[in-house]
Amino acid sequence: MSATSSDFDKAAGVLRAGGLVAFPTETVYGLGANAEDPAAVARVFQVKGRPPSHPLIVHLAAAERLDGWVEDVPETARVLAERFWPGPLTLVLRRGPRVSPEATGGLETVAVRVPDHPVALGLLSAFGGGVAAPSANRFGSVSPTTADHVRAELGDAVDFVLDGGPCEVGVESTIVDATGDVPAVLRPGGVTREDLEAALGRAFAVPAASPVRVPGQHPSHYAPRARVVLVEPEEVVVEAERARERGHRVGVFLPPALAGSPVEAHAVVAVPGSTAAYARGLYAFLRDLDRQGCDLIVASLPAEEGLGLAIANRLRRAAGPRSAVPRPPAP
Ligand code: TXA
Ligand code: MG
Repeated sequence: MSATSSDFDKAAGVLRAGGLVAFPTETVYGLGANAEDPAAVARVFQVKGRPPSHPLIVHLAAAERLDGWVEDVPETARVLAERFWPGPLTLVLRRGPRVSPEATGGLETVAVRVPDHPVALGLLSAFGGGVAAPSANRFGSVSPTTADHVRAELGDAVDFVLDGGPCEVGVESTIVDATGDVPAVLRPGGVTREDLEAALGRAFAVPAASPVRVPGQHPSHYAPRARVVLVEPEEVVVEAERARERGHRVGVFLPPALAGSPVEAHAVVAVPGSTAAYARGLYAFLRDLDRQGCDLIVASLPAEEGLGLAIANRLRRAAGPRSAVPRPPAP
């Protein structure tokens, strides 16, 4: 851990002055602005190239600081916050007066979370207020899980980068809409559906498509520059070799069941057998295949249980149709 308390004070000063601070969380790095400062929040959207209608998550130092940020907290939300904060869970609640409307894209709700990372918590405590932060990548591309990813992608557009090493969880938080009587998962993530069900003692629906606008539901999102093709696990090797014969520089996500199998490809990622390790490495693997010049990635989906649900969701988005999404520039 390289960030010190004087870094937290400096970074908090940058936020107070209307600047942008990139910071690590347990999930991915965030691009933070003072959630009460409309101009700073507008800069986040501009730097990301994100449409203003796509709302940001407000990060707080503790559940005790919800006052003013949300309007009321239903019992289910209380139970979930108590069980999973600090942690990779985001709750959508009715918005309170402190949230700048720019941060919520004009919605009457706000997404809030308390991240479980000493550097994020150090920053949030030093700052005192809410930090509106999306993942610190350009709209549509792969989220950063190291400070180097942030610097490579956003460079000078960020005023201060707090380095907290690689993120432990590696995929974004689970987003739960807790405004109604029946909570709903809007985006699968670091807290599994099984964990949510155990906490509430009831089944949880994970809808295929959200009624709310969530960029993660956009056809192509979380995407590397290389095109991503998904096939059944047993077809990965054949599909990769076929693409190579067609002239592609192919990157392969070799499933754990095929570990050690020979495959003719430009680059091979051995997918870890544990979903926790897979989630932790997922975005770095995608970035790495881009860096090695692959133009096509062949992968398969893990079983959609536990963290596998979030991994499969991100791979599907990465493989989604691309026409509407501006591609990030080559590094
Ligand atoms: O793990 C994470 O959640 C990371 C770290 C930095 O905290 N943040 C992150 O932010 O993934 P972002 O902006 O990349 O994704 C936030 C998601 C978006 O899909 C957004 O639409 C959704 O949260 N969201 C925010 N406010 C919402 C609201 N009021 N209702 C529904 N969805 C909302
Ligand atoms: Mg994002």
